[in-house]
Amino acid sequence: MRSICSIKFLFLCVLYGAVSQIVIVRQGVISGKTEISAKGRHYMSFEGIPYSTPPIGKNRFMEVNDLQPWVGVWNATRTSSSCMQYEPFSNAVIGFLSTGDRVVPGNAGLKDQYHAMLWVKDNIKMFGANIFSRSLFSSGSALSSWSYQQDPDFQSDSTFLPELNDNWENLASSLYQCSLPLEKRRQVTARIKEYYFNNQSIGQETYPQLVQSLGDRLFYSNIGKFLKMAASRSDLPIYAFRYSFRGEKSLSNMIGLNNNDYGVSHSDDLFRVFVLPHFELNRADDLAMIDLLINIIYSFATDGLNSTNGRLTKSTKLLKTVESNSRKKNEIDFEWLPVDKDSEELNLLEISAPNNLKMMSNNIRINKVITR
Ligand SMILES: *[C@@H]1O[C@H](CO)[C@@H](O)[C@H](O)[C@H]1NC(C)=O
Ligand SMILES: *[C@@H]1O[C@H](CO)[C@@H](O)[C@H](O)[C@H]1NC(C)=O
Ligand SMILES: *[C@@H]1O[C@H](CO)[C@@H](O)[C@H](O)[C@H]1NC(C)=O
Repeated sequence: MRSICSIKFLFLCVLYGAVSQIVIVRQGVISGKTEISAKGRHYMSFEGIPYSTPPIGKNRFMEVNDLQPWVGVWNATRTSSSCMQYEPFSNAVIGFLSTGDRVVPGNAGLKDQYHAMLWVKDNIKMFGANIFSRSLFSSGSALSSWSYQQDPDFQSDSTFLPELNDNWENLASSLYQCSLPLEKRRQVTARIKEYYFNNQSIGQETYPQLVQSLGDRLFYSNIGKFLKMAASRSDLPIYAFRYSFRGEKSLSNMIGLNNNDYGVSHSDDLFRVFVLPHFELNRADDLAMIDLLINIIYSFATDGLNSTNGRLTKSTKLLKTVESNSRKKNEIDFEWLPVDKDSEELNLLEISAPNNLKMMSNNIRINKVITR
């Protein structure tokens, strides 16, 4: 049996296979419920299980610590309110706030995620899972310590772009999160303007460049750094993918409260794996994409990749799905290359359609622009 836990939804663990509704974990008894997936499969769901002490009161900024056992049965059929307050905590700014001393030691968000992983390690066998074969998958902020909320309203707000243009040096240094000494701001923001905008004004015509540059800075830069750091500290190969399939709906429409096509947004892949209220998808290509993403995660967790040559083995369910989604067989004949810690290019598996997967590499441009 395999388990998949989402770090973004730390309190949600979905376990496949025959698991009892009552499970005894280290701190006590929990009770979950049976749910039915979009494709009609039954699974047990346990939500809102506490895994560490909430960071409230005197623990507000401190590293979360040991959890006390409870008496009776913990109702794990709903996300508990303490977890609800908790989740924004770890992902939002406070999760990464530090005063550089013992008052706010910092990195509480990461330490919190670490506690969640320890909890899984300690308890997963009680759910019947193989403790030597866990797959953890996570999305977005959990990886990149990203706290900035992408706001598509920028484009429709008639004052934002002109203000940004007129006040570029000041606004750009906070928008791009350049924590720079004042004297360097002019130089760096001018470099961004030259590199991405070719010195043109910021406005409706250069909006795509603005989106590209913010995407590079707020995602690729940190995700790229993180992946290379992980690759250089681990013997295991690290594989990354880039999801670029728009589909019928995107998170950007939920944030922007409209149906504009802003392209693909942060978490659009996640919301094709986990069902989000008001995000039901029925279009044929979306349904095929849901299948593909679930198969990628499943086959990665069960069969893994053939690490001898980095090639997806022919036996994997992933390959079968891609083959059946693809008219041209040669589209699947590629190697999923691991992250190369010594390269300036970041290797990514590009998932751009249910029948189109290929390797690409992304030059982490903004790092050069900002840290030259
Ligand atoms: C658990 O919580 C759910 C949702 O609030 C509720 O419907 C259910 O009755 C609770 N179960 C127990 C045993 O308290
Ligand atoms: C862009 O503007 C800067 C001054 O702000 C100038 O040094 C640079 O040469 C310009 N680059 C281009 C391509 O025009
Ligand atoms: C992995 O690839 C190597 C080289 O192509 C091959 O010899 C080996 O049998 C493969 N292993 C699996 C498990 O497919």
